[in-house]
Amino acid sequence: MFDLLVKNANLPDGRRGMDIACAGGVIVAVERGIEGVAHEVIDAAGQLVAPPFVDPHFHMDATLSLGTPRMNVSGTLLEGIALWGELKPVQSVPDIITRALRYCDLAVSMGIGAIRSHVDVCDDELKGVEALIEVRRRVAPYLDLQLVAFPQDGVFRDPTAMENLVRALDMGVDVVGGIPHFERTMADGAASVTALCEIAEKRGLMVDMHCDESDDPMSRHVETLAFETQRLGLQGRVAGSHLTSMHSMDNYYVSKLIPLMAEAEMRVIPNPLINIMLQGRHDTYPKRRGQTRVRELRDAGLVVGFGSDCVMDPWYSMGRADMLDVAVMGQHVGQLASRDDSAWCFEAVTTNSAAIMGLEGYGLAKGCAANMVLLQARDPIEALRLRAVRLAVVRGGRVIARTPANIAKLSLDGRPDYVDPQQYAPVSQNK
Ligand code: FE2
Repeated sequence: MFDLLVKNANLPDGRRGMDIACAGGVIVAVERGIEGVAHEVIDAAGQLVAPPFVDPHFHMDATLSLGTPRMNVSGTLLEGIALWGELKPVQSVPDIITRALRYCDLAVSMGIGAIRSHVDVCDDELKGVEALIEVRRRVAPYLDLQLVAFPQDGVFRDPTAMENLVRALDMGVDVVGGIPHFERTMADGAASVTALCEIAEKRGLMVDMHCDESDDPMSRHVETLAFETQRLGLQGRVAGSHLTSMHSMDNYYVSKLIPLMAEAEMRVIPNPLINIMLQGRHDTYPKRRGQTRVRELRDAGLVVGFGSDCVMDPWYSMGRADMLDVAVMGQHVGQLASRDDSAWCFEAVTTNSAAIMGLEGYGLAKGCAANMVLLQARDPIEALRLRAVRLAVVRGGRVIARTPANIAKLSLDGRPDYVDPQQYAPVSQNK
């Protein structure tokens, strides 16, 4: 007796007509023609079943706060940080919990199964930390939430940030964060990278820093982060988020930097929606895009995952927890147009981001957790193109969210009665 049996699914690796059987919260078989009784059966009808979307970079303590206490008029990163500084003192722990839980509802409905959220520790009361630790506990049955101790105002620039960061880790925050480009000097930024990586090494934790989130071609904190990762033996445990300065760096310098990052097995997390919105603000025309060198980093063997960063908060007024939106922006800005490159963008918001977070039991194989999403698309590229509807979201072998298919009724003389967006692909894509 299975808890759940999914019939006739296409899988992201190209296998078609597959059945997936789930029992006891795990996948017990992925084969064709599985027979057996199940508590629930889903006929995937040749649609794509993927492991859940994973968002490796988010700010859950700020999400859904848009307009409180005011709007970000310039739409810049710096006005966003200033606005966040106005919001922090007036929000309460229950406020943060309420907003975060609402966002998690939305995220789950969009097929997100795991989120790495930074939590600002530049608040002597650590309200965000207290709130998100509670949220992590409450959502655990349906969402993996990993927390990063993030010193938004600079771990040296803010007088109590280092003490607060250590307190946050003692309270159970999972990952060490940082923001070296926001320290007062390049030297302070480099020293912050060293100090924070040493804390992670001593505690056996991962590192995920906002690193060189600027258009400054001379910013060098990625280099320091790669160096410290190697010096401290943290290979594979350190992520650099944003890395937007790499967009503007001298090509010769980058030809040295990327191999150093690869040696250090750094993880890379661009945030395409935010990067394209916030970077290049000092440019007239031509205007830089600001997204880091995704193709080059991937081709050097680095694990690259796309994050969403913000949804309706002081920095970004848009967003709907749609990792396909994130992937499509990354695809366009990075000009990842070929079929292989397009399919890779789907991996950037699923398997790659799961690897960055170190998620255990992730994937669609026997023995993995029975977590998956059924999409209104036949393959990953169609899912990206259509921002496919999440027809069913499964966690632990149980359906936890459903959305009706996107089929429009048409009222035009002599034309079809319905429009199913999948029917408009060329025949070659309809196999
Ligand atoms: Fe961020």
